[in-house]
Amino acid sequence: METGYHFSHKHILSLEDLSSADISFILQTADSFKEISTRSIKKVPTLRGKTVINLFFEPSTRTRLSFEIAAKRMSADTFNIASSTSSTTKGETLVDTALNLMAMNPDIIIIRHSFSGAAQLLTEHIETSVINAGDGTHEHPSQGLLDLMTVMEKKGRIEGLKVAIIGDIAHSRVAHSNIIGFTKMGASVCVAGPGTMMPPAVEKLGATRCNSVHEAVADADVVMALRIQKERQDDSLIPSLREYAKYFGINRSVIDLAKKDVLIMHPGPLNRGVEIDSEIADDPRSVILDQVTNGVAIRMALLYLLMGGD
Ligand code: CP
Repeated sequence: METGYHFSHKHILSLEDLSSADISFILQTADSFKEISTRSIKKVPTLRGKTVINLFFEPSTRTRLSFEIAAKRMSADTFNIASSTSSTTKGETLVDTALNLMAMNPDIIIIRHSFSGAAQLLTEHIETSVINAGDGTHEHPSQGLLDLMTVMEKKGRIEGLKVAIIGDIAHSRVAHSNIIGFTKMGASVCVAGPGTMMPPAVEKLGATRCNSVHEAVADADVVMALRIQKERQDDSLIPSLREYAKYFGINRSVIDLAKKDVLIMHPGPLNRGVEIDSEIADDPRSVILDQVTNGVAIRMALLYLLMGGD
């Protein structure tokens, strides 16, 4: 880390907004927080008196809970609002909801929404720090950071690695954050998937588009399978899940093309037998649950840094 570095972001909206120095600093900070979750008393007073609101308009298990755990382990007060229990069901707009939350003086609002740009929209109307917990098909920055942390932890570096991301690239905010994050940190990212699920300008994000899963996975250090984003597809983009599994699923014969010490990753939730076979998800080289563990540390780091920790 260069001397004089200072983390100066008010919001975490995307990995596009962060420099490689910002990302390295967040990973180092998360690494220093990880130990807290292994203690018998998993609590430090760092964010005592701070108020964190989780505003989730889409389902979530990992992201919502790990932000809540992260905040509670740092002694912040946390509050959860789900779309089904919010007044948006009565016609209130997202901006009006945010303005009303602001009137109660929170310190951080964490938002997940199906609209790409929802987190950015909030920053244009409210003063509070905002964290994007996944907006439509745009980005999922804390997922990208926890994936980078997991690879750094297991491989000791990111620069020079080959990362294969397989599946529904077009609809996956996880893919977008990971392509941006891994290329910023010096890895080469190869993507493969059905043509209907490949954005036309994927190379502009920094990835290499491969013609087949086999080409993308060959000699890869990391293989990441993506979930089929059924909720974001207007029409059927694949003939059937059985055909998807046959041509784009990560199975034994595909993973055997990667390096022997390949890391097998998936952001969750898993569709076992579709984008990844059960035996591969449970392979000793799978780090899928390490990703979840690191998610708490990354989110502790983000809350801490946005609250002025340095
Ligand atoms: N990886 C991820 O975002 O999972 P959730 O949808 O459960 O939060």
